[in-house]
Amino acid sequence: MIIEPRMRGFICLTAHPKGCEQNVKNQIEYVKSKGKINGPKRVLVIGASTGFGLASRITSAFGSDASTIGVFFEKPPMEGKTASPGWYNSAAFEQEAQKAGLYAKSINGDAFSNEVKQQTIDMIKADLGQVDLIIYSLASPVRVHPVTGVMHRSVLKPIGTTFTNKTVDFHTGNVSQVSIEPANQEDIDNTVVVMGGEDWSMWMDAMKDAGVLADGVTTVAYSYIGPEVTEPVYRKGTIGRAKDHLESTAFEITDKLKDINGKGYVSVNKALVTQASSAIPVIPLYISLLYKIMKAEGIHEGCIEQIQRLFQQRLYNGSEIPTDDKGRIRIDDWEMRADVQAQVSKLWEESTTESLVEIGDLAGYKQDFLNLFGFGFEGVDYLADTDEMVQVSSIA
Ligand SMILES: NC(=O)c1ccc[n+]([C@@H]2O[C@H](COP(=O)([O-])OP(=O)(O)OC[C@H]3O[C@@H](n4cnc5c(N)ncnc54)[C@H](O)[C@@H]3O)[C@@H](O)[C@H]2O)c1
Repeated sequence: MIIEPRMRGFICLTAHPKGCEQNVKNQIEYVKSKGKINGPKRVLVIGASTGFGLASRITSAFGSDASTIGVFFEKPPMEGKTASPGWYNSAAFEQEAQKAGLYAKSINGDAFSNEVKQQTIDMIKADLGQVDLIIYSLASPVRVHPVTGVMHRSVLKPIGTTFTNKTVDFHTGNVSQVSIEPANQEDIDNTVVVMGGEDWSMWMDAMKDAGVLADGVTTVAYSYIGPEVTEPVYRKGTIGRAKDHLESTAFEITDKLKDINGKGYVSVNKALVTQASSAIPVIPLYISLLYKIMKAEGIHEGCIEQIQRLFQQRLYNGSEIPTDDKGRIRIDDWEMRADVQAQVSKLWEESTTESLVEIGDLAGYKQDFLNLFGFGFEGVDYLADTDEMVQVSSIA
């Protein structure tokens, strides 16, 4: 079939298998171009199919020759209906890993469930014995709690007072005011249940009990802080509470792993266009201004540049892992540079529908958004008849 982007709000309903393959290949080439990392050899990535998780899997495999198991929740294709991009990304990743002689298997299912945890443990036992690194990179709007069976929904709301600020519809470039009503306690609790650290902790407990964690194991989950302007809806909002919980869970995990010399970390990453971040009001406007500044300064990074740097310069730098005063790894250092933030704040004040075209990088935002779904890549013939029924080879 001929596959074109079909946008609906914050999502694109179609994905291009060849474009997703090109995206994965580009990321692999980038990692290879940065040389070998003296890193982990057996890696589990939870949330491995898109965004930071996919970049983590690619960096582990092609930077450090690691065997990887990837867990994700993606839609396979049906005749005449494309799969979700993470499916095609994973198909391409496995194909490239195979070509390079690297072990790669995937599990498609709900990572919050006991069943998927058990399936993963069984796969580690059978194929790898143990794992040295676990990356926890889930971004999900819902979680069915494995003990109570209750479905919790996360929300993106401020806490305490209504938040009013600018936002942009990145499809049209229209800058408008948005007001978001504050969350109630139930909203906060639900968001913490979905995006906090409980599930990460459950994964680590289950794997430790099963004996599949290697001595000296490391686990890393991803967090975000960001600027003052997004604080009410992000870091001081419901999602921020979940990130606080995730960050404190890292210490609990380190405590529980003491006897096997293991460590839990949170890495604070940069704001980037992903499926998860496009849905948060105010963030797309901030990102389009940030991109403009960081590109002009020559310090712009995408997921793969961020994670390659995280592995090479933080996690596996040959000495101690540098952290901030709260024990967090910071790879958002360039985003948070005072000069970068000062410029973004100034542009924020100036941004209107008319001015954004000039002062922001809306084109870059749109391009990244299209890229998420496999569109807009050089070297892909989008007019060619394309087979949508691409399979992830390890998933029968
Ligand atoms: N995008 C940003 O700007 C940004 C910045 C800093 C930190 N982060 C954090 O990085 C992490 C990953 O976010 P992302 O932006 O890469 O998101 P993403 O949407 O690109 O990826 C989410 C991944 O989780 C998987 N997933 C979702 N629900 C699942 C489920 N129930 N079972 C199994 N897999 C499931 C998806 O398949 C996918 O692999 C999140 O914790 C996010 O808060 C994001």
